Amino acid sequence: MEVFRIRGGASLRGEVRASGSKNATLPAFAAALLTAEPCIIENVPELSDVRFMADILVHLGAEVEKLGPGSWKVTAAEVSPQAPYELVRKMRASVCLLGPLVGRLRQARVALPGGCVIGQRPIDLHLKALRALGCEVEVEAGDVVIQAKGLHGASLFLGGRHGTTVTGTANALMAAVLAPGTTHLESAACEPEITDLCQMLSAMGAQIEHTGSHHLVIQGVESLKGCRHRIIPDRIEVGTYCIASAITKGDVKVVDAEVSHLGAFFDKMKEAGLNFEEREGALRTRVHPDGLRPIEVTTLPYPGYPTDLQAQACALACLAPGPSLLTERVYPNRFMHVPELGRMGAEIGIEGTTAIVKGGAKLHGAPVMASDLRASAALVLAALAAEGETWIQRIYHLDRGYEQFDEKLRSLGAEIERLPAEAMPESFQIPQSELITS
Ligand code: EPU
Repeated sequence: MEVFRIRGGASLRGEVRASGSKNATLPAFAAALLTAEPCIIENVPELSDVRFMADILVHLGAEVEKLGPGSWKVTAAEVSPQAPYELVRKMRASVCLLGPLVGRLRQARVALPGGCVIGQRPIDLHLKALRALGCEVEVEAGDVVIQAKGLHGASLFLGGRHGTTVTGTANALMAAVLAPGTTHLESAACEPEITDLCQMLSAMGAQIEHTGSHHLVIQGVESLKGCRHRIIPDRIEVGTYCIASAITKGDVKVVDAEVSHLGAFFDKMKEAGLNFEEREGALRTRVHPDGLRPIEVTTLPYPGYPTDLQAQACALACLAPGPSLLTERVYPNRFMHVPELGRMGAEIGIEGTTAIVKGGAKLHGAPVMASDLRASAALVLAALAAEGETWIQRIYHLDRGYEQFDEKLRSLGAEIERLPAEAMPESFQIPQSELITS
């Protein structure tokens, strides 16, 4: 187990490159199962979640080869329909194998992903969509078992209690591209990661109309071919570095960012007192000379403010001079960062699905515990702004989703070290038996 030791106070300055998007890469790897021909996927971030997905594809019979930095080749000449629990449980996103297995093999047996700290995360909408496409779906001994001999196009609605579903849309799309007939996917997710998937599928020969909208129309084709596809930049990583710049009163430029994916984020962060400048392919973030301001943020499906940047905004709001409100509409309970930020001096209450941040905090270093990817990022941001030393445990969460997070932050001047857990003061150490991995 490794930990981060962060000494706060340094203003981050310099340039950092946006990596490829984790949440676009995972379905892209799964999509490669839809053809027997090789798919070359570029701008793939070096992350443990990508490794997990590669391992699962290998288990399913695909050849997965890293050709060079960020460049991977997946060839699924033969595919088995079974993804077992010991692989699937490591990563919820492996549920997006259902669609491609159904499309390619007309059958699938994929273990149900287990619990998740950010909320309940059911897959009822995925299964509803697959049933509408003609699949027989059962849950047997913890596995989703699908027979799809009669796979066909259909009109289906993907909206649920918390809006649409991103991975559910990916599954429905990947089954529909090889389903005979026309499919209308209404209330489809239109996150940039879904649009990226549509682009890869189109390059493979799929017929998809109205890409980027909530109503995708798919004409099923008989087979797909290999392709070369470049993954979009990670908008959540970009947003995280923008906040890192602001929270440390720094001056950071992110290169290779796709600013058109961050409209709602820019809107809210401008209200929070951040200035953005885009020049020569670099996105520069500084705090307005008048300083930070309190904000009201509500997370929503795209193009709304992303839930994956809520925890980071919460860390920033701790320093604004007045109360901020952060409301979760995507994952009502996604506030695990709140008690840990409290250990660093923040005053935050939770009222239903809203975090009420008192603001004006003087953050101080503390030993804290990472709970999920974005909550962990919020702790790193708070630690960069805090006085003194913060130790963050369970940083494997960060390695799932931020490529070289510590190296990149160090290159901007952050005092952050990756150390073995034993390097922590003994009183901070938690016995291995009490560490829950999720
Ligand atoms: N939902 C249902 N039923 C379903 C599916 C979802 O009720 O069948 C609910 C969920 O419980 C949640 C909401 O709908 O309240 C949205 O869930 P969605 O299915 O859209 O989430 P996801 O596809 O499982 C992806 C990202 C998440 C990101 C969400 C929302 C990937 C691999 N994961 O999850 O990313 O938070 O969309 O934008 O793409 C992260 O990167 O840290 C992360 C958690």
